[in-house]
Amino acid sequence: MKKTILVTGGAGFIGSNFVRYIYNKYPDYRVIILDALTYAGSVENLPVNINEQSGERLVFWYGNVRNGELVDTLVSQSDVVVHFAAETHVTRSIYDNFLFFETDVMGTQTVANSILKYRDKVERFIHVSTSEVYGTARKELMDEDHPLFPMSPYAAAKAGADRLVYSYWATYEMPIVIVRPFNNFGPYQHLEKVIPRFITSCILNEPLRIHGDGSAARDFIYVEDVCRAIDLIMHVNMNQVNGEVFNVASGNHRSILSIARDVIKLMNKDESLITFIGDRPGQVFRHTGDIKKIQNFFPWQPEISWLEGLERSIEWYKNNRPWWEKQLWMRSVPIITKSGKKELH
Ligand SMILES: NC(=O)c1ccc[n+]([C@@H]2O[C@H](COP(=O)([O-])OP(=O)(O)OC[C@H]3O[C@@H](n4cnc5c(N)ncnc54)[C@H](O)[C@@H]3O)[C@@H](O)[C@H]2O)c1
Repeated sequence: MKKTILVTGGAGFIGSNFVRYIYNKYPDYRVIILDALTYAGSVENLPVNINEQSGERLVFWYGNVRNGELVDTLVSQSDVVVHFAAETHVTRSIYDNFLFFETDVMGTQTVANSILKYRDKVERFIHVSTSEVYGTARKELMDEDHPLFPMSPYAAAKAGADRLVYSYWATYEMPIVIVRPFNNFGPYQHLEKVIPRFITSCILNEPLRIHGDGSAARDFIYVEDVCRAIDLIMHVNMNQVNGEVFNVASGNHRSILSIARDVIKLMNKDESLITFIGDRPGQVFRHTGDIKKIQNFFPWQPEISWLEGLERSIEWYKNNRPWWEKQLWMRSVPIITKSGKKELH
C-alpha cells in the first residue's frame, strides 16, 4: 500500500463520506478508521461490509480518541491523519456539554500528542475544525482571520481544539493544516441536523420546526465538495500549507426558513407544514464563508449547486428509510431555556 490514512470519526457523516471518497479514488491506499460508534456513528455508513472486510484496504477500529495507547498504535502506522471525531450537535451541547469538551478538546490533544510522538512517520495532520468557531459574522464574508467568538459550548470546544492544533505547529513545528468547513449536507447525515430533519419531516408529512423566525442563515456546502477539498490538502506539497487554516464553504448563505421552503417545494408538499418554535440559545445569526484563500492555493470550487445537492440528499433519504427510521426519536433534544422552560429543539 502506498499510503496509510488514519481517519478518526470515519463512521460519522462527513467522515464516512470522506472514507468512501478516498477508498474509491485511491485503490493503493490503506484507510484505518478509528471510531467510538457513538449515537452519531455507524458501521453501516462505511463503503464496505466490515463483517467481510479483508483487513487490507480498510481497517475499522472500534475505540475512543481519548485512548492514548490505542491512538499511538494507529498513528504509528499512518502517513496522514485526518481528524473528524467529535461530538457535533450544537443543541445537544446546550443540554449536556460534558462529552463535547472531553472528545473535541481532550480527544484532539490525545491525537496531537500521538502525532508528536510519531512525527518521523506522520507527514501531515489535517484537523477538521468548523466555521462555528467564528460565531456570528462581523463582516459580510468571513475569512480565516475573522475573530473567534464561539457562541455555543460545541463551538467553544471546537475553538479550543482548533487553537490547540495551531499551538502544536507554533510550539513543536508539527505538520498541521486546519480545515474550517461551513455547514455540510448530504447522505448519511444524522436526523438531528436541520436538512435531514426537514427532508424526513416532509416524507412523514410532519411539521418542519424552525427556531425563532427562521432568519438565521448559514453557508451550506455539499459534503462531496468538502471531501474534494480535504483530498487536495492531503496531497499538496506540505511546505505550501503547513500551519495554514482553510475555510471550505459555498460563499453563499441561506436562511433556515428559505431552506424549509426549498425542501417543501422540491418534495411537492405544502408550506403549512412549517411551524415556529423558540430561538436556540446562543444562536449564530449569519455565516457566509470567504473562500478566496483556498481558491488561491488550489484549483477548487464547489461543484455541486445548492439545488443539486438538495435533490441528491432528498433522493438519498427517500431511498434509505431503514437507515434513518432508527434515529427518529433523536430528531429533537430537550433544552432548558433562560426562563427555565423546557423546550424540544
Ligand atoms: N456536519 C457539519 O456541518 C460540520 C461542519 C463543520 C465542521 N464539522 C466537523 O466535522 C467533523 C465531523 O462532523 P460530522 O457532522 O460528520 O459529525 P458526526 O456527529 O456525524 O460524526 C462524528 C463521528 O465521530 C465519532 N466519535 C465521537 N466521539 C468519538 C470518540 N470519543 N472517539 C472516536 N470517535 C468518536 C462518532 O461515533 C461519529 O462517527 C467534526 O469534527 C465536526 O465538528 C462538521
